[in-house]
Amino acid sequence: MVDTAPADDVDSLNRDLNQELLRHRELTREGGGREAVEKQHAKGKLTARERIERLLDPGSFQEVAPYVEERRPKGPHIPGDAAVVGLGRIDGRKVAVAAQDFTVIGGSFSEAQAQKVCEVMDLATGSGVPFIALNDSVGARIQEGVRSLAGYSELFWRNTQASGVIPQISLMLGPCAGGSVYSPGLTDFVIMTEGISHMFITGPEVIREVTGEDVDLETLGGARNHAAVSGVAHFVAADEEDAFATTRKLLSYLPSNNTERPPRIGTQDDPDRADATLDVLVPPDGSEPYDMREAITSIFDRESFFEVHAAFAPNAIVGFVRLNGAPTGVVANQPDHLAGVLDIDASDKIARFVRFCDAFNIPLVTFVDCPGFMPGMEQEHGGIIRHGAKILYAYAEATVPKVCVVTRKAYGGAYIAMSSKYVRTDMVYAWPTAEIAVMGAEGAVNILYRKRLAQSDHPEEAREQLISDFHEQFGSPYAAAASGHVDDVILPSETRAKLVAVFDFLQDKQASPLPKKHGNIPL
Ligand code: HXC
Repeated sequence: MVDTAPADDVDSLNRDLNQELLRHRELTREGGGREAVEKQHAKGKLTARERIERLLDPGSFQEVAPYVEERRPKGPHIPGDAAVVGLGRIDGRKVAVAAQDFTVIGGSFSEAQAQKVCEVMDLATGSGVPFIALNDSVGARIQEGVRSLAGYSELFWRNTQASGVIPQISLMLGPCAGGSVYSPGLTDFVIMTEGISHMFITGPEVIREVTGEDVDLETLGGARNHAAVSGVAHFVAADEEDAFATTRKLLSYLPSNNTERPPRIGTQDDPDRADATLDVLVPPDGSEPYDMREAITSIFDRESFFEVHAAFAPNAIVGFVRLNGAPTGVVANQPDHLAGVLDIDASDKIARFVRFCDAFNIPLVTFVDCPGFMPGMEQEHGGIIRHGAKILYAYAEATVPKVCVVTRKAYGGAYIAMSSKYVRTDMVYAWPTAEIAVMGAEGAVNILYRKRLAQSDHPEEAREQLISDFHEQFGSPYAAAASGHVDDVILPSETRAKLVAVFDFLQDKQASPLPKKHGNIPL
């Protein structure tokens, strides 16, 4: 016969254990303590838990590993250390989330933090759900030495393994110094929050010590400069709420992983809607600018254009739209800025976006009005050959359905690179204003007829005539259409209906790339 404790004793023991759990749980929720939380709020920042609550659907957060703490015998042993991680939902869809807790030693990256973040990353990658990082950290925990560096390395390794498998989004919600910037740098999208977020490898003090230069944090690594100058940030949010709203909106265009299609929604917008204003949008005079955004917002579903990297290389446009409810990637030259020329930054912007869309089964539409690649010593020495080649590579590699619309200039390398038939674009349309040529008329005449013009008695008249002849030959899309280099010439107002119809045909496109380990995109 087995002795058993009286029922009342068991009940009381259970109650004690449960009380102990609740006390432990309470401790994990305190982070760095009340004073540190007040300091965080005084800086205009939310705490890690407040952020998770505001980002996710109410009540959906399932915390993981809340008890993990510092390993050093004399370490701070704060339950949960400097991160809150777990699983949850956004608009009903599953996500994994890791929020750094600045109230615990400045959110410094420790071995314990690495263990927690890596655990949810493994869950996210294994289950095919997007990973969202809420970053707010001073960098590697200096007191831990190589262990914090090893922790970072584990995170970077996982970011790389997950790349192209699940979407990874980084929200920057505080200072992100040293190693803290490389995980965001490896993810697909970086959202910086104005005023409170700063990204830098070396801070102002180190810079002063090494170079003697005095720099302030905002100029060095603030949201505006990373969005417009370095291109590190894809989005700038006005505040934390805006950063969460941007994240939710971005996710609405993305599949949860690379085996899914992006989520299609119902739309009231007529697939055959024809906007007559498009027929007069493009000025026939090639030197006159116009705003390509007007074409994009008119052709795709109403209110669906969500621009990415808007402040960086504004001579190119990339973003997400919906076409008859289906998420689609849009790439375009912007004649309103630098005549839509392709330079180093525009090349990086376009290539990276095309590769993201291809990895996540998002079809692509490209609008072309481009005089070519940017001439000049600065661009040549900056590696325009290496960077421009990325566009060619990205389009040639992409196997998602691809459609191109030439609205005006498609000159030279820009014609080839910007989703021409030769990078295996499925359908190339041209508007009546399209000009497809090796280069612009003036440049061509200068090169081809230099000697003849030098010997002419009336060089200006001769030049005008030659330019006009060149325009006649290449100033319309019919020569390219006659030789099959474009598939059809369409009215601008017909574009929406054409795109809806053609993507319907292409949606089950099959592709069989050659077997290889991976290609070697010119970086
Ligand atoms: C441990 C750190 C720390 C660090 C700061 N703290 N940096 N603890 N390791 N790297 C502590 C501070 O002592 C402070 O503790 C708390 O974190 C908050 O820091 P504050 O300076 O009070 O915050 P704030 O005024 O907001 O300034 C934030 C900051 C500044 C601008 C980021 O802390 C700073 O410049 N820190 C150094 C950043 C840096 O150089 N990191 C690189 C580490 S090397 P108390 O107890 O006072 O609250 C690295 C290499 C990895 O990351 C490479 C991988 C590829």
